[in-house]
Amino acid sequence: MSLKDRIEKLEAEIAAAAAKTAEEVERFRVSMLGRNGTVTSLFEEFKQVASEEKREFGQRMNKLKQSAQARWEEMKSGIDQGPASEQGETDPTRPALGESVGSLHPISIVRQRIIDVFARIGYTVSQGPEVEDDHHNFSALNFAPDHPARDMQDTFFVEPLDRSNQEIDPAKVLALRTHTSSVQVRVMENSKPPIRTISPGRVYRNEAISARAHCMFHQVEGLYVDKGVSFAELKGTLDYFAKSIFGPNVAIRMRPSYFPFTEPSAEVDMSCSICEGKGCNVCKHSGWVEIMGCGMVDPAVLKNCGIDPDVYSGFAFGMGVERIAQLLYRVPDLRLYWENDVRFLEQFSDGAFRA
Ligand code: DAH
Repeated sequence: MSLKDRIEKLEAEIAAAAAKTAEEVERFRVSMLGRNGTVTSLFEEFKQVASEEKREFGQRMNKLKQSAQARWEEMKSGIDQGPASEQGETDPTRPALGESVGSLHPISIVRQRIIDVFARIGYTVSQGPEVEDDHHNFSALNFAPDHPARDMQDTFFVEPLDRSNQEIDPAKVLALRTHTSSVQVRVMENSKPPIRTISPGRVYRNEAISARAHCMFHQVEGLYVDKGVSFAELKGTLDYFAKSIFGPNVAIRMRPSYFPFTEPSAEVDMSCSICEGKGCNVCKHSGWVEIMGCGMVDPAVLKNCGIDPDVYSGFAFGMGVERIAQLLYRVPDLRLYWENDVRFLEQFSDGAFRA
């Protein structure tokens, strides 16, 4: 076969060449452009070509070599693109794609930790609706009809929007619950003491969103009702809770406070887990941080829910999950929890707890 015919045959072969796997691509390169490849050996023969034909053959052969190289590049990138399965054969030598593993949202992690701590001492989990009626969110909990918490400023009313309409039964007014204390009422209405339960859930308030406040947040409510439940047991339970979450070195203290549904009521402070009571920005240099509200269930509330206050007594407490998370993780800006920035969220795992 003349050199001219061989060049033509090779041109056709290069144009028709196909490869399904990386090995086939490599085989093409070796057979054409390798040291003993067909194209390479043609250049050896080129030396014998008569000098008047050298110019014409030289150009064709350079073109041939370029097209072999271009075809090889094309086939190579075709193999690299797209999954191996679409290339017909799987290349077992390709590195596996890394799977990114998700993690729980930090608020979910903290909520679960709180549930676990109370589950250990016999507390069940109860849930109630987020769209709640006035009775469960306010009236049964002893909020006076003109209590400011019912005001449009704090509460997101669902319907009817015109609360001044005299024909509407106030007990049927619907709102997004402003606290999980509403679940206490539902539990007491539907079960008999002894009751030992916590109610985690979302709550809503008409607040301007800032680093320290949000219109939606999470609470965990606690309720214990039985014969002879005392304030001392409340204190012991909350001390156990604080130490379980923040470690054995924290202490709690109680300050007298007021809630319509508890009597007496208290605000619970914990020695600052960040500076260990020495004073820092988080505790405003007081050495103490507020972690929840609590108290003895008001006898009027027990009665409203069908439980005889002459036989039973109980305590209740309510805490903000974001507040606990903030103290654990030291995240100063609440908004970060709701922006769903993966760079923020992926930092949290069960291992990130300090306790
Ligand atoms: N419901 C209160 C709030 O949202 C928190 C609270 C305080 C709950 C005292 C309680 C309690 O059960 O006893 O601010």
